[in-house]
Amino acid sequence: MVTLAWSASRANARVRGRSPVLSAVSLPKVTTAVEPDGSWTVAGRMPCAVQVDHVSKAFGKLPVLVGVSLSIEPGSMVALLGPSGCGKTTLLRIIAGLESPDAGRVTVAGRVLTDRAAGVAVPPESRQIGMVFQDWALFPHLSVARNVAYGLPKRADSRAQVERALAMVGLQGLGDRMPSTLSGGQQQRVALARAIAPAPSVLLLDEPFSNLDTALRVQVRSEVHALLVELGITTIFVTHDQEEAFVLGDQVAVMHDGRIAQVASPAELYRHPADRWVATFVGEANLLRGSVRPVGSAATVSGPAVADTVIGAVPLAQLPVGSREVDVLVRPEQLSVTAPSPVTPATGVVVLIEYYGHDTVYVVDAGGERLRVRETAEPLFGRGDPVVVRYAGGPAMAYPAERE
Ligand SMILES: Nc1ncnc2c1ncn2[C@@H]1O[C@H](COP(=O)(O)OP(=O)(O)OP(=O)(O)O)[C@@H](O)[C@H]1O
Ligand SMILES: [Mg+2]
Repeated sequence: MVTLAWSASRANARVRGRSPVLSAVSLPKVTTAVEPDGSWTVAGRMPCAVQVDHVSKAFGKLPVLVGVSLSIEPGSMVALLGPSGCGKTTLLRIIAGLESPDAGRVTVAGRVLTDRAAGVAVPPESRQIGMVFQDWALFPHLSVARNVAYGLPKRADSRAQVERALAMVGLQGLGDRMPSTLSGGQQQRVALARAIAPAPSVLLLDEPFSNLDTALRVQVRSEVHALLVELGITTIFVTHDQEEAFVLGDQVAVMHDGRIAQVASPAELYRHPADRWVATFVGEANLLRGSVRPVGSAATVSGPAVADTVIGAVPLAQLPVGSREVDVLVRPEQLSVTAPSPVTPATGVVVLIEYYGHDTVYVVDAGGERLRVRETAEPLFGRGDPVVVRYAGGPAMAYPAERE
């Protein structure tokens, strides 16, 4: 088991134009003070920029990270999203200094912490980086307070620092308890308190909510989100859950096979995935086969071109270079189903209905293509019903058609 220690001198970071957000959740507000001019202070370090340049790492012959570069703004939250084994934890461990890369550089607030070529390797305990591990890594034989104090230097005020960190995560008064007597959500908060107690300038969270059941995960995630936004600590967190990446991340870095496939805001990522792998990994995707046709003067669709598909013409956001045959990205909520009529014949048949309460997904077979269509209404059609599928979105992304 690895645990980081940090040097613990503290500075007061002053954050303007952002208001405390904890009022909506159950965590007590102990670290902030609202000034008369509306700004607020937080006991912690100044948020720092994190820069990762061309980091590569192999274990034996297995390349795990390949030329990874990432720029993270001070005080922002960045999600590293990717499937199991794509190198997320390895990248976090390299930023923390727990693993050394084969090549590349890590810089925090302009200070080079790792530079393989220059032989720089600042030890983990001198990086002022806090980390919450994938399994939380609490010491079972130490009390909650001693777990939190683990990374702090032994000083007269370290007990107060521990109390303050526990209060921040809503666990005041539980310092004497043993980890095994706490719920999963409380243990998760102890791990977070341990990471933030030394007031790190950067926080790394490795799938911090994955050990919690669904309802608790949503609650704890929302509380931790509010706390981290208030503290304004630059945070990089790992997840393989797209919803979590979207809810928490100011930016999302999608990783695939040791490479960064795309870095963008959640909305940009959802609307304009860089390639078809990202399109299908992030959110639900229909990829409709289509033939590109330039928009003539009589066309009514917007965009530089349309693709003729099984559900009609879909406007395209851009033309894939050199491809006449394309796969058009259509999200289920961009489609709708209606009953056919003599003037609008059916384009498909409903083969499955998934009712989620807040919406209904129809799986429609349209000329051999299976389409997912999301409607907010209660189910209006049954299995076997013929339906008309319409596209109701803006200009769509298209990728060169994949040969079957
Ligand atoms: N110390 C190590 N020695 C050998 N191989 C390793 C080591 N650490 C990681 N790996 C391998 O590197 C690859 C990436 O591992 P990593 O833990 O970074 O993935 P991950 O994206 O965090 O996955 P998960 O979502 O399952 O946690 C995996 O194939 C893993 O087996
Ligand atoms: Mg991992």
